[in-house]
Amino acid sequence: MIKIAPSILSANFANLEKDIKILEKGGADWLHLDIMDGNFVPNITFGPILIKSLRKITKLTLDAHLMIEKPERYIEDFQKSGVDILTVHLEATTHLHRTITQIKKLGMKAGVSINPSTPAIALREIIPFVDLVLVMTVNPGFGGQKFIPTMTRKIHEVAIMCETSGRKIHLQVDGGIDETNIRAVYDAGATITVAGYSIFSKENIPKAIQN
Ligand code: DX5
Ligand code: ZN
Repeated sequence: MIKIAPSILSANFANLEKDIKILEKGGADWLHLDIMDGNFVPNITFGPILIKSLRKITKLTLDAHLMIEKPERYIEDFQKSGVDILTVHLEATTHLHRTITQIKKLGMKAGVSINPSTPAIALREIIPFVDLVLVMTVNPGFGGQKFIPTMTRKIHEVAIMCETSGRKIHLQVDGGIDETNIRAVYDAGATITVAGYSIFSKENIPKAIQN
């Protein structure tokens, strides 16, 4: 089943509740939360304190994408805030297997993400342990960037690796997804896509999600 996870990065932060209710009614499957530390990526967003408040107003699956250095320092904080799926970057943690194990031990689903310049093969040793792989199709840090077309081949490569593992692994794709490229991304094997700008830049948000 194809799923869509709108990212609130492009939402109105002065009234997130309103935007999240619109996303729920519009058929969003998960809520994608982009956590940035100004170190791993140039931008800074929000953290567990905000997520704790969001947890109280929505039943949607909270899908947190940590773009932070040494994410292992904050796993417990995110678990306490009510996150369901915690994804860390392969490039941001030295002992990735330990970090993934810690996430699962605390009862969350564990995801691993790779930057556009990281090859699919770098995932080989961790795939047997994760619930989700996130292939970035822009360099993380900002919403509204342009999809990097050569990533479609990588999505396909990762899809084959997930399938070969024999385990049920979500293959998530994030960055510059819109009506012009979403078909190719699903054809390449994605099971869930993130979308921020292409949803929130539209007047009619539910229609954008359906599209
Ligand atoms: C980029 C973030 C993405 C991004 C998605 O660093 O991880 O989730 O905000 O937004 P769009 O769809 O605008 O690229
Ligand atoms: Zn993201």
